[in-house]
Amino acid sequence: MTATIERGSATAPVNTPASKKTPTPKKPGGFLSSSNGKKVVMAVTGAVMVSFLVLHMLGNLKIFFGRESFNDYAHWLRTLLEPFAPYRTVLTILEIGLVLAVVLHMWAAISLSRRAGKARPVKYVAKKSQANGYATHIMRWGGVTIVLFVIWHLLDLTFGVVNPKGFDSAPADRMISGFDPSRWWVTLIYFVAVVMVGMHLRHGIWSAFQTLGWANKDRNKALRATAGLVSIVLVVGFLVPPLAITFGVVK
Ligand code: HEM
Repeated sequence: MTATIERGSATAPVNTPASKKTPTPKKPGGFLSSSNGKKVVMAVTGAVMVSFLVLHMLGNLKIFFGRESFNDYAHWLRTLLEPFAPYRTVLTILEIGLVLAVVLHMWAAISLSRRAGKARPVKYVAKKSQANGYATHIMRWGGVTIVLFVIWHLLDLTFGVVNPKGFDSAPADRMISGFDPSRWWVTLIYFVAVVMVGMHLRHGIWSAFQTLGWANKDRNKALRATAGLVSIVLVVGFLVPPLAITFGVVK
């Protein structure tokens, strides 16, 4: 969604005699209420979520080392810092951090997109709208799809509500039964959602590079390639376990 806003376009000074006579009053509010502040919020919370995704993807790959290895990993996550901290303390703190990151990311995205809408009462026409329209659609509808997917995903593999093995089962059993060949349509849902996540990430990481001020003519190619590479590695890493289970490679 950040891509819909031309850098500084809403606040760029207009060099006319009128603007000299009546300087634009400073908007009340701190850094967080400025467009730049919100973009920084998006970049930082995005980085938190990408870090989670990298760790989550690596954890999922443990299924290739056997059910026990996968279950041990799930158990380890819940018993971190025991006996100094009670069962699930660290995991709960990480989960709260992740929820906060998701909420702040969505808040900044919605408020930036509203601001862009207000600053542009007349819709863009011609070519420009196609490029911006693509990014806006990918980020806006991609974001909504990802939220819906995560709700389904939690009901499936965390709470077991829509999983054949139910809640009272080992994580590896939920995973292997969830992507059973007979449930190929579940794998298809994951496939579409993960590709959406990849497209969202590619654009989001590139936007974050711009927000951080790293983008310039010499580096843009390398930065775009980095955003693409990170997204492809995550998409492939996430898709390999469900596909391996559905195609009977992991049983
Ligand atoms: C497509 C492959 C994926 C697989 C096989 C997978 C598998 C799992 C499993 C097994 C759990 C439960 C872990 C446990 O109970 O210990 C889990 C939790 C979770 N997954 Fe995924 N996941 C995938 C993709 C994703 C994606 C793309 C996202 C985010 C966009 C995501 C977000 C989450 C979240 C937020 C949790 C809850 C974490 C927690 O509360 O500890 N997952 N996933």
